Amino acid sequence: MNIILKIQRFNPDTDKEPYFQEFSVEVDPNDRLLDGLMKVKQFQDGSLCFRKSCAHGVCGSDGMRINGSDGLACKTLVKDVAGKDGEVVTVEPLAHLPVQRDLIVDQTDFFEKYRAVKPFLISDTESEGKERVQSQDERMVFDDTTNCILCASCYSACPVLDDEPAFIGPAAIVQAYRFLADSRDSGTRERFDVLDTPNGVWPCENHFKCTKACPRSIMITKRINQTKQMIKKDKG
Ligand code: SF4
Ligand code: FES
Repeated sequence: MNIILKIQRFNPDTDKEPYFQEFSVEVDPNDRLLDGLMKVKQFQDGSLCFRKSCAHGVCGSDGMRINGSDGLACKTLVKDVAGKDGEVVTVEPLAHLPVQRDLIVDQTDFFEKYRAVKPFLISDTESEGKERVQSQDERMVFDDTTNCILCASCYSACPVLDDEPAFIGPAAIVQAYRFLADSRDSGTRERFDVLDTPNGVWPCENHFKCTKACPRSIMITKRINQTKQMIKKDKG
């Protein structure tokens, strides 16, 4: 089948504003959208810029907005975004992050917020040269959150960030919860200092758009609400 990829373009050296350019591409309905983008780059316009690496939903580098929904180009099948021959598929960069070129965004803000929650195990006990073990039940409390690949699809989909760009965002809270709920972690106070603030966990309004966008099926909104409950319980 033939589809029209309507791609947002922007070259900071030559363009004042982003604009859309259309490319007609021959694809199979079972191809990934990433295959279509690769065909454009290889055979029509080598200057088209986008990130990709694994092409299998693991590295998180090809997050983008496809027909208005955020997700990974390598996990989006053509048949799911284009039902018939000649259909237009709109491809834009992720929202809430500055566009560097075409579909590439500057992820500095996203990763600064991620680092702010200290996304690593903090323990106040010695490991005594052994693994810090936990039971299967203890692990299941946060198991889904360990699947985050930092693709920023949730960050782009979050409507709160439209009006409150300083909001820490869903991915950072997911990472905070991943360690707050870990039976081996002692960094609760340090993370609450970041989360229990006006730009921390509280601006979330339960839109569930992040949960819908997540290519790893992480229960983002639930985890955000559990984080709020932890903080409320701590305050008494
Ligand atoms: Fe991507 Fe999901 Fe992680 Fe958000 S929580 S960054 S959507 S994998
Ligand atoms: Fe790695 Fe899509 S290219 S997740």
